[in-house]
Amino acid sequence: MKFVSKKMDTKLCSHAAAMSTSLGDHQLRNRLAVAPMSRVSAGPDGVPTSDMAAYYARYAEGGFALVITEGIYTDGVYSQAYALQPGLVSPAQVRGWRRVTDEVHAKGGLIVAQLMHAGALSQYLTRTIAPSAVQPVGVMMSEYGGAGRFPLPVEMSVDDIRVLTDGFVQAAMYAQEAGFDGVEIHAANGYLLDQLLTPHLNLRTDEYGGSMANRFRIIGDIIHGIRRVVRAGFIVGLRLSEGKVNDLSYRWPEGAVMAREVLEQVKLAEPTYVHIAAEHGDWRRDCLYEDGSSYGGLARMITGRPVVVNGGLHRLDIGEEVLRGHGDILALGKAALADPFWPATMGFF
Ligand SMILES: Cc1cc2nc3c(=O)[nH]c(=O)nc-3n(C[C@H](O)[C@H](O)[C@H](O)COP(=O)(O)O)c2cc1C
Repeated sequence: MKFVSKKMDTKLCSHAAAMSTSLGDHQLRNRLAVAPMSRVSAGPDGVPTSDMAAYYARYAEGGFALVITEGIYTDGVYSQAYALQPGLVSPAQVRGWRRVTDEVHAKGGLIVAQLMHAGALSQYLTRTIAPSAVQPVGVMMSEYGGAGRFPLPVEMSVDDIRVLTDGFVQAAMYAQEAGFDGVEIHAANGYLLDQLLTPHLNLRTDEYGGSMANRFRIIGDIIHGIRRVVRAGFIVGLRLSEGKVNDLSYRWPEGAVMAREVLEQVKLAEPTYVHIAAEHGDWRRDCLYEDGSSYGGLARMITGRPVVVNGGLHRLDIGEEVLRGHGDILALGKAALADPFWPATMGFF
């Protein structure tokens, strides 16, 4: 169905978000994506339901070019974050996701699966793993059924690292089988892969700690491992942020200096796109540096890859500012949740 918006005017039609762009081999009908949002609405076995298929299809119908799913767990050992979170670790889950991808494709959208390992921020497990045994700050999120402090995680062993890396690769193979156009590796918001990058959460002295090359090693291995087993053209995105769900205003020590160090490693890993997120919903506050540069702008410059940017970008003036050099695609979270037809409503579709 094509929507004619009451709010459509020439100014909105000329907004950069309405222009098509590409991700790898895929053409996007505009520059609007749905940000990943956990909905904790799968079955108890992590199998996506038919309601979830209808939920995701609405975003494609409403004009979003790209749908990024909620965070999906990647192995049956330590990765799960929440009860009723969907997984990609079993054939039944693959069949459930197939319904979702078919319905999104039928509405003309692209869909990538966000793959996540909760690490120390699991609200599902009582024994958790992390790069180092550091007590997470803050308390669990009640909206995901948590209460009280997180458990003190156990420092992950080399065997744990093999299991988690293999889990991401296997989950990406399942994602391909389930009809996804790609995956997004979740290395943001304080979850395990972000714990590796964050200096005070990774105190390791082995090949996974210390230098940025060491701290990024597992993320690079995951991306290269996935590339080896999926078809050419399968999207492999990477989400990064400074803020964390349990520490929303956290910023890197040394800001842009550290961002550049991370991005030099990202460049070597060659993801299809980089997604720079501001979980708190304030891109200017969370992604700009004192010199006027931004994490997204640096990502574009250093990696040469398309950059998805997130954080309150339903505000048209800020979205326009972002698309003038700080990013290529706007990912909307809460605004998409409030109105899945936001692109159509606003006249971008
Ligand atoms: C209900 C909800 C669930 C979320 N779940 C995830 C998630 O599974 N993975 C993720 O990377 N970010 C998640 N986020 C963060 C969003 O992707 C986004 O960063 C945040 O909402 C800020 O963007 P906004 O201002 O457009 O809402 C979630 C946000 C909300 C509101």
